[in-house]
Parts: sequence; structure tokens; C-alpha cells
Amino acid sequence: MESKVTMDKIVNLCKSRGFIFPGSEIYGGFANTWDFGPVGVELKNNIKRAWWKRFVQEDPQTYGVDAAILMNPTVWQASGHVESFGDPKMDCKNCKTRHRADTLIENHSKGKISAEGMTNEEMEAYIEEHDVRCPVCGKRDFTPIRKFNPMFTTSRAMTGDASDVVYLRPETCQGEYVNFLNVQRSTRAKVPFAIAQIGKSFRNEITPGNFLFRTIEFEQMELQKFCKEESSMETYEDYKKRAITFVENLGLKNEHLRFHDHDKLAHYAKAACDIQYLFPMGWQELNGIHHRGTWDLTRHQEFSGKNMYYLDPITNEKYIPTVIEYSIGADRLTLALLCEAYDEEQLENGETRVVMHFHPAIAPYKVAVLPLQKNLGDKAKEIYNTLIKNFMCDYDEAGSIGKRYRRQDEIGTPFCITIDFDTLEDDTVTIRDRDTMKQERINVNQLVDVIEKRIKFN
Ligand code: GAP
Repeated sequence: MESKVTMDKIVNLCKSRGFIFPGSEIYGGFANTWDFGPVGVELKNNIKRAWWKRFVQEDPQTYGVDAAILMNPTVWQASGHVESFGDPKMDCKNCKTRHRADTLIENHSKGKISAEGMTNEEMEAYIEEHDVRCPVCGKRDFTPIRKFNPMFTTSRAMTGDASDVVYLRPETCQGEYVNFLNVQRSTRAKVPFAIAQIGKSFRNEITPGNFLFRTIEFEQMELQKFCKEESSMETYEDYKKRAITFVENLGLKNEHLRFHDHDKLAHYAKAACDIQYLFPMGWQELNGIHHRGTWDLTRHQEFSGKNMYYLDPITNEKYIPTVIEYSIGADRLTLALLCEAYDEEQLENGETRVVMHFHPAIAPYKVAVLPLQKNLGDKAKEIYNTLIKNFMCDYDEAGSIGKRYRRQDEIGTPFCITIDFDTLEDDTVTIRDRDTMKQERINVNQLVDVIEKRIKFN
């Protein structure tokens, strides 16, 4: 990709413009945690709202939930996370750095070899044969591969023994599976239907990094579609299409997106793929679409002792539905949209303007009100007070108008309204478009309608 965007530029802009700050910064930070600032929280909320609108509000077959983060620990036995969730980790005996064996192999082969589906023995043999070395100290002196369970634990601290252990959920979807019957019965939903939620997940990742890409606390937007086995592949293909259309509508360019089919499938799965995005560090997973068969509901039936069968009210058929899962990280998608929006434009006067070309629907602020002079503040405040009833709106009277435009360009505000002395005479203002920098004169009482029309998804 011919691009001026680098992760450093994104991280710096995010900090200086109030998108995202390092977590617990005044205490020296807390690695791989990030705090969303006033501008960033608007961006991420708009992304989450767009997802919810598209996949829940506009789909009568989908029902939302907001399940508890702390779940009965048996849930994580049923899901397989207690026993086998985990990355294959190796420690460098020389410099004590912890690595993922699959990442070592993939980086060493410059992405040509995928370790997906290799056994631990196969990965150890590859590392030996191909002389894969520790990227930190250059030695090849690793411990054998061990599974590292990245679930964070906490405790109810009633008795202080192992039975008090409670897990912070490493994925949100189990809250959807365990509520399958509650949702179906309370809504009288008929298969096929889906359960969706947006919420925090936690993973003690071995190799976090690349800003928001892989963190230890993150938000997921997940959806499980419960369908009949016969129609499951059609549903899978349908979600592939919906998932890519959704991120394209938000602003990710088609040439920066691709499907990546999984090489090796879980024994219960018929298909699995990711949508990858071309991040500054290369092609990486943005979201997953997984055919999960009847595995999850069957496991919960086994571990809870509760019947997970669905009774078709028309045919009287009784069966455990097949699940198609669509899962995307809200933070990872925010990062992709930040990278896509970032641009450095050469202006005619030789200056460079940094501008975030967010789709107006997800831009943190929709409009900024800028009085040309401070003594126009009363009129400008009057307009601002009307606009904030309709949109997230910024107000700025400090510095030259050029500097104020630049500040709004850097946070991606699609429209700036300038108030001048003519405004006092004829109630008109200038509205400036972020992308074209063109200005037009419109009446104050048209502002809400004009902005509303221009910020909508097509
Ligand atoms: N329930 C399925 C599941 O959790 P996953 O591939 O492990 O599948 C789904 O995660 C999505 O969640 C990923 O595609 C990514 O967008 C996001 N994600 C996963 N781990 C993450 C992390 N450590 N930091 C940020 N986002 C993450």
C-alpha cells in the first residue's frame, strides 16, 4: 500500500488530539491498555452504534443482549477455555522474552508459512530446522512449547481456595449461547434467529501490541446465528457478505480488505474465515466468521444438564441448531478506521494538512462552530446551543481561523460553521466541507437539515 500512514503517526495524533491515551499514564502506564479520550470515545461509540443499527436494529431476526462479564466458571469448562484455550508459548532462555511459537515461525518465513494447524512438535521441529532465532537477542535457546492460558482470573474470596476462582470472560459469545433458550422463549423467536451483543473481553495475551490491535482488554461485537444445518453454509456466505459490506460502508477501502480462509478447521466446523485489513504492519485479521456446528449448544447442554433443543412450532421437529458466528473487535475496527482515514495533503501554500477523512456518520464531532472574532461569541453560542441538541458539536474561538480549521481536520470534523458580521445582519453562516475545503453560505435555520442529510450513510 502506498501510504503515508504509520502506526507511530496514528498513536501520536491520537494522543495529541484526544482520541486515545496510554492507560494509567501518570503512573508510568500499564502496558497494552489504552484509555479513550473525549474524541476517541465518540468515534468508538459511533462505530458500535453503526454495528448495532446494521446487525440488530435493521435485522428483525436478531435480538440483542448484554450478558454479565463474570459467568459461572463451568461455562469456561464447557467452552473448552479452561482446558485448551491458549497460545503456544516459548520462553527465550537467554533473554527471558516470551514468544508465541506460531508468530516466530510466521515472522521468520515473512508470512509465507502459516503455523495454524501445526502441532507443538511440528512447530518445535520447524524452529530447529530453519534456525528460527529469538528476535530480541538473536539466540536460538528456547524452552519447549507450553500452552499458556490467557484467561484472567479473579476471586470471590469466600474460602480462599481454588473453588473461588472466577474468570474474566475472554470472549462475549458465551453470554449469547447460555441465553439461547431465554431469548428464544421470551421473544418467541423462530429458527433462524441471531443473538448479538457488544461488550468487554479480557485476554492475557503473550504478544500484545500494535496499539489497539492486540490488547489485554478490548470490546467485541459478536453475533451468533442459530440456523438449521441444511441452510448453514448459505448463512455463512451471507454473513461474509454482510461483514465486508459493513466495514466498506464505514469507510474501509475494498483494496485494503480480503478474505482469508482458515487452513485447518476445528473438528466440528464446516468453514471458517477472517476478513483481513491491510494495517500499517501488514495484512492482519479484522474479524472472524465461523461455522461452529452444534458444538457450543451441545457442550452447554452436557455441562449444565439443561436441554438445548429447539422445537419447531410448525413441523414439530426437535433439534439443536447450528451456529454461524460473526465476531469483530470494536477497538481493532476503530484502529483500522483511524489508519484508513489518515491523510497528509499538500496544500497550494506549501503547507501539509493532516486530515482524518472519516465517514461523517462515524466522525466524533459532526460540526464545529467557529466565530471569526471573539465579539461574535454571543451569536455563535446561540447557534452552537441549537446544534448540540442534534449533533456532537465542538466550539472553538481560540487562534486564527486557519489553525482552527486544521484542528478540526485532524479530528475529522466534517463541517465547520463560521460566524461573521454578516451573520448578525442576515442570519447566514459559512459552512466548510472538510474534504473539499469548499465553503458555501447557508441560512442558520437550514443548518440542522443540511448537516443531517450530509452525515447519513447512503
Ligand atoms: N468468539 C470468537 C472469538 O472471540 P477471536 O478470533 O478470538 O474469536 C474475534 O476474536 C475478534 O475479536 C477478532 O477478529 C478481533 O477483531 C478481536 N480481538 C480478539 N483478540 C483481541 C485482542 N487481544 N485485542 C483486540 N481485539 C481482539
